[in-house]
Amino acid sequence: MINIQKIRADFPILSQKVNGKSLVYFDNAATSQKPQVVIDAEANYYKEINANIHRGVHTLSQLATDAYERSRLKIQQHINAKFSHEVLFTSGTTHGINLVANGFSSFLKPGDEVMVSALEHHSNIVPWQMLCEKTGAKLVVIPMNEIGELILSEYERLLSEKTKIVTVNHISNALGTINPIKLMINKAHKVGAAVLIDGAQAVPHLKPDVQELNCDFYVFSGHKICGPTGTGILYGKEEWLNKLPPYQGGGEMIATVTFEKTTYAELPHKFEAGTPNIAGGIVLGTAIDYLNEIGFENIAAYEHELLEYGTKQLLEIEGLKIYGTSSQKTSVISFTVEGIHPYDIGTIIDKLGIAVRTGHHCAQPIMDFYQIPGTLRASFAFYNTKEEIDALVVAIKKAQQMLT
Ligand code: ALA
Repeated sequence: MINIQKIRADFPILSQKVNGKSLVYFDNAATSQKPQVVIDAEANYYKEINANIHRGVHTLSQLATDAYERSRLKIQQHINAKFSHEVLFTSGTTHGINLVANGFSSFLKPGDEVMVSALEHHSNIVPWQMLCEKTGAKLVVIPMNEIGELILSEYERLLSEKTKIVTVNHISNALGTINPIKLMINKAHKVGAAVLIDGAQAVPHLKPDVQELNCDFYVFSGHKICGPTGTGILYGKEEWLNKLPPYQGGGEMIATVTFEKTTYAELPHKFEAGTPNIAGGIVLGTAIDYLNEIGFENIAAYEHELLEYGTKQLLEIEGLKIYGTSSQKTSVISFTVEGIHPYDIGTIIDKLGIAVRTGHHCAQPIMDFYQIPGTLRASFAFYNTKEEIDALVVAIKKAQQMLT
């Protein structure tokens, strides 16, 4: 059970006024808000143990290194990775995807295929397009249907020995659809393809078990799970991370360097060149502890309640249409209101203190599929309430009156 009053008190920003009104923050799919415990942990790191890691023999360096590596272990446990060296710190989902896509350029040749889905965020399209341009491989797209689900019969038809990697999101950022990734991973493995899962929109709502999923790579960002911006995780199976070449060269990722030849460090350091976001990595662990204390089952159940309530209330508005109506979806509602540009409604409701995202949500192919310029997207987190949803409905009606 969620104790909503107690949870809301953990987030200082939620009691702020925006444009003179109580803030209603419904842009959680873009980034989450941060609880006090996370804000404090970041400040405490700089106050108490700030030093560079994996380098010094001095006490502060050891304390910072221990805290950073403890956080890696925590994340390993959280996603159930087999080894802690399969957990790489990155700057976010985009970094993780680019690291893998870049590494695959060593394995691909003309005629090979890279498979993405119609539901992807640009960050899970563009790096693969760049890879295809570089290698002569072909980009193949798993199509979607009207309710925003991937067409699995088409997926099966498109898979072949030519498919070298399938890269698909766990949950769509624009529509909230939860993809049947376990089944998709099994099917890809049958033709010998690797699978990368973009978990950016999943980790706020569920705890992924990478061994159970049997994915080859799973990437996510820290800032969507109450952690700091500029943090992220790339999980990769040991065998794949050993095969992939390093992404960046620099300090910390080497074993030996001479002008003739450099040898690389063991995992995970081979992929962690340069001074990382040390505070961020440590505090990401704090954020994960915070969420686990609330419990992902509680979070998912409560958010589902908000999704059902929000869907019902919003559909009572005349001319409102929801995009993405799969029965398997998370607490994201993407919608348009007939005759009004999403940006205009977004601007008016912002004046009433309500934050939603408007536009194509970095998923232009989805908007093209529906032949719309964009949507309004309300994405709910475990600290939102039904009263806030009521405020959204009132605000949209007000905007509608003003604009029609
Ligand atoms: N990927 C983030 C979103 O969907 C920024 O809003």
